[in-house]
Amino acid sequence: MDPPLPREAESYRLSAVVDLPEEQHPDRVRLRFLQSGEDRAVKEARVLAGTTIFDAASWNGVAVDSTCGGHGTCKKCRVKVVSGQAPVSPVDPRAFSVEELKSGWRLACRAAAQEDMTIEVPPLQTRPKAALAGVGRHIILRPAVQKRFVELEESTLEDQQSDLERLLAAMDDVEPRVPLGILRELGGTLRRANWNVTAVLVDDLLIDVEEGDTSGDRHAIAFDLGTTTVVATLLDLETGLPKAVRSVLNAQQPFGADVISRISAIMMDDDALERLQQHAHETLQQLTDEVCTEAGVDPAEVYEIVVAGNQTMIQIALGIDPEPLSMAPFTVATRRMPEATAADFGVTVHRRAPAVTFPALGAYVGPDIVAGILATGITLDRRVRLFIDVGTNSEIVLGSSARTLATAAPAGPAFEAAQIRCGMRAADGAIEGVRIVDGDVELTVIGDVAPVGLCGSGLVDAVAELVEAEMLDHSGRFILDNSDRFGTIGEENVFYLSDDVYLSQRDVRELQFAKASIATGWQILCRDLGIEPSEIAQVLLGGSFGSYLTPASAIGIGLVPKLPVTRIVAAGNVAGEGAKIAALSVTERAAANAVLDEVEYVELSGREDFNDLFIDQLAFPG
Ligand code: FES
Repeated sequence: MDPPLPREAESYRLSAVVDLPEEQHPDRVRLRFLQSGEDRAVKEARVLAGTTIFDAASWNGVAVDSTCGGHGTCKKCRVKVVSGQAPVSPVDPRAFSVEELKSGWRLACRAAAQEDMTIEVPPLQTRPKAALAGVGRHIILRPAVQKRFVELEESTLEDQQSDLERLLAAMDDVEPRVPLGILRELGGTLRRANWNVTAVLVDDLLIDVEEGDTSGDRHAIAFDLGTTTVVATLLDLETGLPKAVRSVLNAQQPFGADVISRISAIMMDDDALERLQQHAHETLQQLTDEVCTEAGVDPAEVYEIVVAGNQTMIQIALGIDPEPLSMAPFTVATRRMPEATAADFGVTVHRRAPAVTFPALGAYVGPDIVAGILATGITLDRRVRLFIDVGTNSEIVLGSSARTLATAAPAGPAFEAAQIRCGMRAADGAIEGVRIVDGDVELTVIGDVAPVGLCGSGLVDAVAELVEAEMLDHSGRFILDNSDRFGTIGEENVFYLSDDVYLSQRDVRELQFAKASIATGWQILCRDLGIEPSEIAQVLLGGSFGSYLTPASAIGIGLVPKLPVTRIVAAGNVAGEGAKIAALSVTERAAANAVLDEVEYVELSGREDFNDLFIDQLAFPG
């Protein structure tokens, strides 16, 4: 039962409140935020018990004042708890009078929500710095990398504090861990800098003490370590803006196009793991050099890196044998990587820069998908949304802030065009779009060149258009009488898209199997979530392939549910966006880590309903 709204709340506008099934998450609490200001809106959130009011507010788009980003130092995140109990934190008495504490005033970043509460949020006095990232997400800047400029008193015979005590006393709100290497340099740095220094903290780790005031210079690099392409974004942590973005093909390509061929190479050759690791490191370092040069940033001012990638890529980059990922029961080395440094990824930036990775739900719903869940904000949104990362192994996530499920569907290589007779990567000469108008075929080709092959989005378009033009029946068979573009190659019927590029009957079958596998995946997730596909508010197509699909064609072949096309959205490189978000905000990073507890993994193999659903999904919708 909901606690009643306080009387004054009746005059507020109640927005976006839906009844959420309570019983599914008994460890969640319900928070109502009463926002002051012009629209006097009420927002409601359900979060895990123990989440701070500050985090719950920022995840749900309720702006709470802050200039320290929730580190408990600015004392600006004042909120009033008007129903429910929030214990007084050690910092609260420094921010409020006894009377204010009695009437429920608390610092939001220090108050953990352990029960249902109603909270009044005063209007903003300062404008929190924020950045747009992910799929239209508004991220309040709160990087793990913090800098503190301090002007210390010189030590004297009368004041014989140690150098470290003197430094830490000037930052009494933090208790950082201090590595030995800092002490080796601290004495010299303090004296050379005339006792004016900048401490560099990453979370609770003191990674450097720099001479003078360098507090305006702090950067991080977010990497998307993809099997095919690797992307690096150099972020200015002061503004949240990217200063340079570069991408390059993964130097592991000669070992095979997909993760299975890379793992096979490792299984067959004792030296292959080391060489593949070396190639990953070279790729990451090359990009680091490029983004730092382009932005004119000294790599030593990059204090943290965040690496998103599938589990195989991450394990190889860290020198962890990926072989168990490739065979049943598909075991990951660990769901959460232990603390690592940029050097562990072969990246030369600040010498003590930590490296952050994402947790893995399983071998094939790995850190890249957790990064994608963060970028799409699926677990934070009230609407039920579907996210599909389309590829050889397609990951599917369905849910909302109430409950989220994830699975992996082996789609085979049709979408990568590897098994398609005229298949090719999305490069110059690839047909990426097909339209059939009154029997005439119109092609969109990448680059200003003649078509030489068909990439994944062109394949999906071609099949959808052939079905629409009644040249392909719903079972996937060519209707040969309906066009003079049909021909044969060997024994096989083909449809000529151009003089040299064609679609074969077998290509259509490959696509049918791939799309049926994915469609079965989301059908099962809908079943388990207890919803009809028509209730899905938005479908996000992610990854290097999914982002280029034509929504109408994706619906046309039954790859996604039959919904209005405006509900099908290209989500872009969500893993890379997730990496950026994690670099910009420790709050968001915590949300990514919580995915392991919040998102339920659904195993498709062995499901009794899988085969029947799969066979149903093979047909193209009518
Ligand atoms: S956000 Fe600064 S003290 Fe809470």
